[in-house]
Amino acid sequence: MKKCKRSHTLTVTFILLLVSVFGLSSCEDSPASAPDYSGWNTYAGSKDGLRYSSNDQINRDNVSKLKVAWTYCSGDKDTNNHSQIQCNPIMIRGILYGTTPRVKLFALNAATGKQQWIFDPASEDTSAIRNPSAFFKVNRGVVFWEDENGNNQRIIYSVGSKTYAIDVTDGKPVRSFGQNGYIDLTQNIDREEGTYNPYISNTTPGIIYKDLIIMGCRVSEEADAAPGTIRAFDVRTGQLRWRFHTIPHPGELGYETWPDKDAWKKLGSANNWAGMAVDEKRGIVYVPTGSVGGDFYGGIRKGQNLYANSLLALDALTGKYIWHFQVIHHDLWDRDLPANPNLVTIKLEGKEIDAVAQITKHGYVFLFDRTNGKPVFPIEEKPFPASDLPGEEAWPTQPLPVLPEPFARQNFGPEDVTDLTPEAHKEMMEKYLKVKYRAMFTPPSKESSWIFPGFDGGGEWGGAAVDPASAILYINSTELPWALTMVDKIKGDITTERGAGQTVYGKYCIACHGPELKGNGSSFPSLVDVGKKYNEQQILGILGTGRNMMPAFKQVSDQDKHVLIAFLLNRKSKNLASQSGSGTTRESASVTTTIPQKYSILDDVPYTMTGYNRFLDKDGYPGIKPPWGTLNAVNLNSGKLLWKVPLGEYPELTAKGIPVTGTEGYGGPLVTKGGLIFIAASRDGRMHAFDKNTGQLLWQAQLPVPGYATPATYIVDSKQYVVIACGGGKIGSKSGDQYIAFSLPD
Ligand code: HEC
Repeated sequence: MKKCKRSHTLTVTFILLLVSVFGLSSCEDSPASAPDYSGWNTYAGSKDGLRYSSNDQINRDNVSKLKVAWTYCSGDKDTNNHSQIQCNPIMIRGILYGTTPRVKLFALNAATGKQQWIFDPASEDTSAIRNPSAFFKVNRGVVFWEDENGNNQRIIYSVGSKTYAIDVTDGKPVRSFGQNGYIDLTQNIDREEGTYNPYISNTTPGIIYKDLIIMGCRVSEEADAAPGTIRAFDVRTGQLRWRFHTIPHPGELGYETWPDKDAWKKLGSANNWAGMAVDEKRGIVYVPTGSVGGDFYGGIRKGQNLYANSLLALDALTGKYIWHFQVIHHDLWDRDLPANPNLVTIKLEGKEIDAVAQITKHGYVFLFDRTNGKPVFPIEEKPFPASDLPGEEAWPTQPLPVLPEPFARQNFGPEDVTDLTPEAHKEMMEKYLKVKYRAMFTPPSKESSWIFPGFDGGGEWGGAAVDPASAILYINSTELPWALTMVDKIKGDITTERGAGQTVYGKYCIACHGPELKGNGSSFPSLVDVGKKYNEQQILGILGTGRNMMPAFKQVSDQDKHVLIAFLLNRKSKNLASQSGSGTTRESASVTTTIPQKYSILDDVPYTMTGYNRFLDKDGYPGIKPPWGTLNAVNLNSGKLLWKVPLGEYPELTAKGIPVTGTEGYGGPLVTKGGLIFIAASRDGRMHAFDKNTGQLLWQAQLPVPGYATPATYIVDSKQYVVIACGGGKIGSKSGDQYIAFSLPD
């Protein structure tokens, strides 16, 4: 095992020791026919997506005694503090499988953390080896498959556009799978090449049904994004078995709802990046989708936009449509459905309903009878305002569930502006008043609107945990407003190199890096001084492969890339010629294969947004009154919000006597029969255990960097472990490379 540089100095501080007096409630005895929740053998714990464990060795009475059992350091984090680990690891027969910041796949002894083997995707992809960006990708987990005799055991996992099958015995690719061990997700998507941005990647793993791996994908989300077709592959051979077009083709159900009969040829996204759930008994896979690209202007995609922003129920064996519900019509706010659905049996007026719950970024839980898609509680179509942007046709209504009660605040009024200090209040009130539109679902405007909950939720990819015995759903939520402003697309004077470069920048880069190249101060870096950091070749490398959350830009022609880079580097140095003449550009061409576009729908988009702007005061605190991050319990039987507590802390504010505020966070919870909710997620870098009945914080421990991931729990050799990936690397946190497991002392 690789020596872990800092392991000997790692001390986990136990901050709080509160032991609850609550015992286990008797309603938790599960019926004999219930599914087995004792393991953690797939993403989200089980294929019904519950993040639930029936283990109760660690419980309310002893959780305060938890200690670090082991620490695993992979040693491959990014020194730029951009790399992350979002992985929810899985445990199969005593071995823990997960991924590192550079998306190497590891197998560890789940009781000791000792590495059995590690698979480095760079060893299979030498063409990309010179480009350090090629192996910084986001991976949220892996899945396991074996045949009916327990043979051919493999881990299916994705690195960017490649989905590998890795033999569990030796950590090597299964050569009979796909192309010598992997399938290339950019192939077999049923669209004419050169009409879209070919960037297709995978973050949340697919789901296994029988001998199929059903896959979603991540795409660029711009207007020219690749289509988000749902695909199933043979898990033995990697062969394509079925496809479901989320933007229907002629003759397919839903095609008639599109006013533009060529929409399917031009538009993309409507992808599943959030994970799925499968009802194995019924053979139904539940697939939540995101919006059609581009995210904030819909004039090029008029209509409701089926099957974007929808929960789809498909026949898992054939991909045939069963039912759908569209949660947002004609999305103009990037309200992709952000996490896998949860399959849970609820009780309503004495009747049992096999239900599916879907959390959203805007703070709702949508609950359906999973056999037919009928809403469990009424969902009302409410009217919303029209757009003031010429060319845009906002959909006049949106569906709002009467129940369950929302788990996040959804209105940001002047009375909610921060009053942390009089100065902060004054500063933020001035900024608040500059944004004209406050109400949810106000269409994007040049006069700005509040997105609240923000672009990253409300609910996010960490997902919800559900206790099947009580049908209570637990979900963490960030409560931070973001401002959305539209501007005319920036067009430079294309007769000059610089102006042409600015135009290319305005077309492809501005949404994330901002009109002034300044980024947004956290997730999207500034490019103002990019020439100090990278030369032309290195920037070409980043554009060719993407990097972490930045997609690749293979569709941009060499000519456009050339002027774009001239524009970026000119800011510091006029001397472009000396850099491009270094003689190494040819070498980098192998890394940045260009697939130029014949036609780009981006040219039909008249506006762009000015960037992803969080509403933070000059000290970095949210410009809204707390709580800023919460953990919530929603009873799915009654639809009632049972409790809400802050998640995360700014110790310096608590020291001033301010009640615990909660913080922005990423990653989700798990719930156990032992009465506990385990969650890290908060930016203060703590791992927490809450009492699932009351929301009382029973235990917390300081992690080396924040655990922006969802924990897993399992038993090996009669000992229960709780493990969390500590990757940091978001919202100003340092990057880390560790997995930390907790258990009770012997
Ligand atoms: C969807 C959002 C998005 C878009 C669009 C985008 N980027 Fe990025 N970009 C990012 C993110 C996120 C990072 C940080 C990547 C990381 O984790 O290292 C980044 C990083 C970079 C970096 C490295 C900066 C550094 O300090 O390490 C360069 C250079 C860059 N982008 C150039 C571009 C250019 C040029 C375009 C337009 C062709 C573009 N980006 C479009 C999101 C985006």
